[in-house]
Order: sequence, then C-alpha cells, then structure tokens
Amino acid sequence: MLHSVIAAIVLSASLVLGSPVNSTLAGRLCGTTISEEKLVAAEVHFAANAVPKADFTIAAATVPVYFHVISKDSTLAGGNVPDSQIADQITVLNEDYAGSGLSFSLAATTRTVNSQWFNQVGPDSSLQTTMKNQLRQGGANALNVYTVGFASGSGAGLLGYATFPSDYASDPKDDGVVILFSSLPGGSTQNYNLGRTLTHEAGHWVGLYHTFQGGCSGTGDSVSDTPPEASPASGCPTGRDTCSGGGVDPIHNYMDYSDDPCMDEFTAGQVTRFASQLRTYRSISI
Ligand code: ARG
Ligand code: ZN
Ligand code: CA
Repeated sequence: MLHSVIAAIVLSASLVLGSPVNSTLAGRLCGTTISEEKLVAAEVHFAANAVPKADFTIAAATVPVYFHVISKDSTLAGGNVPDSQIADQITVLNEDYAGSGLSFSLAATTRTVNSQWFNQVGPDSSLQTTMKNQLRQGGANALNVYTVGFASGSGAGLLGYATFPSDYASDPKDDGVVILFSSLPGGSTQNYNLGRTLTHEAGHWVGLYHTFQGGCSGTGDSVSDTPPEASPASGCPTGRDTCSGGGVDPIHNYMDYSDDPCMDEFTAGQVTRFASQLRTYRSISI
C-alpha cells in the first residue's frame, strides 16, 4: 500500500472548472445537487448513448478504490483515520453493493497533512480542485475517495458530495467522492457512522440521483421502482408517504437522507440504471 505524505503545499491554482456539484444545503446534509436543466441534459445524453448489455455475458467488475486521507494533524480527531477503519469502510461498500455485480477493492491509501484542505475543502472550491489535481489516481473506472473535516467554507457541515459518471469526460481530475472522515464505520458522527455515507456518495458516482429528485412529479430519479418522494427523509420515519400513489417513501433506500441504520437497499431498477451508466461512462461492465 502506498503511503505518501505530502506537505502542506497550497498552490494557487488558476484552473477554473465548472464543478459538477453545487452545495446549497447547510447542516449534515447533502453536497450533491444537480439543477433540473443539467439533469435533463444528462438524461438526454444518456438516452442517446447508453451502451447496451452484451448478450450471453455474465459480467462482474471490481472497482479500484484510492483512499486519500486528509488530516489537520496526526491524530484521529484531526482526521488521521486508521487503516482498520478504511478496511471496514471497503467491507461495508461491498456488503451494500452485494448482488449488483459491482465490488470494490482498496488499491492504495495516501495520507496528507493539510489543515486548510481538511477544514475548508468543499464543492466548487478552488482548494478541492488543487487537492484533486494533486492526488487523483486511476482512470474512469477508479473510485477516488477523499476524507476531510468539512469545518468551514462551501463544505461546512456536509457528510459528503460526489461527481456523476457523465461528468468524467469533461473533467477527469474532478471525478470522485469527498466524505466526512468521522462518517467511516466506527467514526464519531452520531447516526452517520456505519459507513453509509460512502455507500450513498458512491451511488451518485455510479450514476444514481436522490430518491426525492424532482419531488412527486415528472421522472423523479429516472428509476421506475423507487416510489416518488416529495423531500428528503431524515431519521427513520417508518410509513412516511409524501406523494400520493406509488407507495410509501423509499426511506430505507441508500439514496435517501435517512440515518445510517435505516438504510439498507438499492432497488433492481437502480442497479439496472447504474450498470448502464457504468458501461456508458466508465467502461465498467457488470
Ligand atoms: N446527503 C449527503 C449527500 O448526498 C449524504 C447523505 C448520507 N446519508 C447517510 N445516512 N449517511 O451528499
Ligand atoms: Zn446525495
Ligand atoms: Ca406515495
């Protein structure tokens, strides 16, 4: 395993990149939002370019995971999560995606002490561009995960944010997932410390939207077997039903906002969608 310790070098990168995520929510919520225009454009592109599943193949694929630990110092409270928690996080990912044909394998871990990145990295920040440009490894099929503290700036209070597969081509270095270090299994963030934040963010990375995308009307999350939902769920509100028809809200779905212990499913339709997204945009066949 590669452990590279990189000093706190902050380049004043002049790259101005249209980041694929916007953050509008504060609190322990989501950093992965997509405008309706961008969603419609992405779905039009996907419909016109979707790569069909080849006949007579039983495919399965392993995603190499590059784990980038950003900390403000060498302590666990400062973000320096141990290898054991990273291993447990990979195990949770594999459990949660079991049956989909997709599995995950730790390819390398890097460790960087940089308090500015730890505290201030967030969606659309130039710091995250600098961080990703220095650290990202692998191709379109590689999942790069960055753990940070989300203490201030555009990421303040987030659990995580992610890029979508269709964004890869226009900005390969931006591709990946940024999560709160204490959301790892055994971490200190109450109700969000079973590792489901990475399951959820990886869900965006494979091409899924939130189950509440679009509310009660229209095409919602572009998956037909997730009941429509007016707004994010929180906690674990059994029986919640915010849209008439279609069944109760999918509060147990990994792509809702429920607490970690409440989440336990991807639907068959979500797996079909992400398999197609992965063939189309990441050359991954499952
Ligand atoms: N809402 C956050 C996002 O989309 C992450 C939600 C994770 N939820 C959880 N129970 N861990 O970026
Ligand atoms: Zn999300
Ligand atoms: Ca309903």
